[in-house]
Amino acid sequence: PPESVRALRGQAASLTGNPFLAEGCLQHIADALILIEDGRIAAVGDFSESAHRIPAGTEIVAYENALILPGLIDTHVHYPQLQMIASYGEQLLAWLEKYTFPAELQFADRAHAERVAKLFFREILGAGTTTAMVYCTVHPGSVEAFFAESERFNTRMIAGKVLMDRNAPAALLDTAQRGYDESKALIARWHGHGRQHYAVTPRFAPSCTQAQLEAAGTLLKEHENLFLQTHLCENTDEIAWVRELFPERNSYLDVYAQAGLVGPRSVLGHAIHVSEEDFCTCHATGAAIAHCPTSNGFLGSGLFQLFDALDPRRPVRVGLGTDVGAGTTLSLLKTLGDAYKVAALRGTKLDGTKALWLATLGGAEALRLDDRIGRIAPGYDADLCVLDLAASPLLGFRTGTCTSIEELLFVLQTLGDHRTVRATWVAGEPVYDNRRAGDPLRY
Ligand code: GUN
Ligand code: ZN
Repeated sequence: PPESVRALRGQAASLTGNPFLAEGCLQHIADALILIEDGRIAAVGDFSESAHRIPAGTEIVAYENALILPGLIDTHVHYPQLQMIASYGEQLLAWLEKYTFPAELQFADRAHAERVAKLFFREILGAGTTTAMVYCTVHPGSVEAFFAESERFNTRMIAGKVLMDRNAPAALLDTAQRGYDESKALIARWHGHGRQHYAVTPRFAPSCTQAQLEAAGTLLKEHENLFLQTHLCENTDEIAWVRELFPERNSYLDVYAQAGLVGPRSVLGHAIHVSEEDFCTCHATGAAIAHCPTSNGFLGSGLFQLFDALDPRRPVRVGLGTDVGAGTTLSLLKTLGDAYKVAALRGTKLDGTKALWLATLGGAEALRLDDRIGRIAPGYDADLCVLDLAASPLLGFRTGTCTSIEELLFVLQTLGDHRTVRATWVAGEPVYDNRRAGDPLRY
């Protein structure tokens, strides 16, 4: 058989649409065959009905007592912050000063960036995450190190150089012009290069002058399909500061909108303290929000209004973000466990189907990549995450009592973490296997 053909067998689940807006979006196959050709899914179906499609001689990789899902999608994470995850005692603005900026200063050293990028990929692939939207630092070398590592695994990633020209240590600042020039060079080198995509990345309004925000808007206008990522309405002190810095704007979101930064490929982190008008603006422009529940809890930022954001009358695109290092885990399963609790504190219920959507197809929709990733369906990139239903004695005991796929998904959302991940596939290749002798990570 051709080398590029792979056959996976096991229980599988995937979404066909948004369960916040419609019924019947969950697709479940108790014993599935997933056929992969040239990194894409060629066929999915019931094993007994589709086994005849497997080319003679193809090895069948069978996962017992497992659940195969689309690779998980993290729509907001800072890889340079791995070294200061779990930093004690501060809310956003003091946390940035005390822990974040000192950590990011070290990325002036390319070798340091390479070490952290390697660790980041090891961690996310081990957690079942195959695509992420990632903040690097102000240093172009931090972006080079990140994309170079992504290219080794052939992961689909979106990342960009942070733009910041005020209110931080001098060594972390660029200028509007320099940020523009450096971003432009990185775009030329990496945007659309294999599976890599570039995101223009103004850190947040307090760290960017009006000139820098406008330069970011110019970059977006000058290139096709560029992404934009930034932070919005995370913390009440931050919001008050933005009001002082931009008194002429109607709202925090308006600061970005006036600079041309709010559009269909914009992903706004947090958006906890937003108005109905802000949600309407996001809906109308197609901008997405990254829901970062572990971070929002850790920094005491607040409770995101998930069900308001997804109101069927004007649904906003929402993905899930770990937001490490304010977030406390790179595991999207664990992040979903926290998302459930945030929803509960708001008097709402995040069931297993909606949770799976947030971590897969919802993320793909937020990133406008839902024609390529986020589903197990023919034509889609073969990015997959395989969960072990008996990863621990307790998990095996509990999943053994589940009587429906919905219940199973909810148990995994509540108890799952990186130890639950049995294997991770990227573009049709097994890159992580927790039973592989020696190093579970390939390459
Ligand atoms: N706002 C501006 N920068 C950051 C950051 O690095 N993390 C979080 N959580 N919020 C921010
Ligand atoms: Zn963030």
